[in-house]
Amino acid sequence: MLAMMAGATAWNDFSEWFSREGTPGAPADVLQAYSKKLAAGGVGEREIAARSEEVRKYMAAHPDEALVLHFNRIYTWVEAPFRREPSEMVKKVAGSRKPGRALDVAMGQGRNAVWLAKAGWNVSGYDISPVALREAAGLAAAAGVKLDTRVARHEDFELGTEQWDLIVMCFAFTKLSDAGYMQRVRDSLRPGGVLVVEGFNGGRPAERNMILKAVLDYRVLLFEDLPDVSDWGRMKAPLLRMALEKP
Ligand SMILES: C[S@@+](CC[C@H](N)C(=O)[O-])C[C@H]1O[C@@H](n2cnc3c(N)ncnc32)[C@H](O)[C@@H]1O
Repeated sequence: MLAMMAGATAWNDFSEWFSREGTPGAPADVLQAYSKKLAAGGVGEREIAARSEEVRKYMAAHPDEALVLHFNRIYTWVEAPFRREPSEMVKKVAGSRKPGRALDVAMGQGRNAVWLAKAGWNVSGYDISPVALREAAGLAAAAGVKLDTRVARHEDFELGTEQWDLIVMCFAFTKLSDAGYMQRVRDSLRPGGVLVVEGFNGGRPAERNMILKAVLDYRVLLFEDLPDVSDWGRMKAPLLRMALEKP
């Protein structure tokens, strides 16, 4: 009956299901769970295969939409495995500085932004997930602080020039190897401002100490490349932690 569901319709059906009861994970696992749900609803094998293919194609053609769906679901999923308390590293570094203007890159549900605002920082942040930012606004209101939040992608957010005394990138889905983006980040820091990076170490670089060498024009306040339990994923993994002061 529903054979050859158009791509957008198949996607709408999939995303409506996923937003309600999907378990975020690798696309193949998510599609398998969706297939099971369709089968349980009496949809035939050929129809399931056709709809899964439409969803797969839609995701490939609209990766940002798929990313937003994924993260929106994470932030409504009660079992989401991430720490809702602020990063210990952010607390340590920001707590040692005089508060000023801070930017929380891909700020998520505001665990770091709210802590910073409570510590006296004037905090802005952006994220691709509107659900995350809604939660952040709620947490800020409950804590009696203000956040300036924007729904934006890394590619689109206007970082500005010499704007920030602190930039936080915590598990932020940014690529330190993206020279264009990192130059925009550098330009947007005020002299004396600090960039804090915490996240998964993406494996051994081609050249030893490549990441460290790339930031040696800054004052290195902290550099760590050790396994630890990650705030996101809650697993023991190689983590990279850096705090860098712009000269
Ligand atoms: C692992 S979470 C970390 C959130 C927060 N920084 C924290 O430490 O709790 C990654 C965040 O990056 C956001 N994100 C992923 N890709 C993005 C992009 N291209 N532009 C902006 N935000 C993005 C997601 O919505 C998500 O909130």
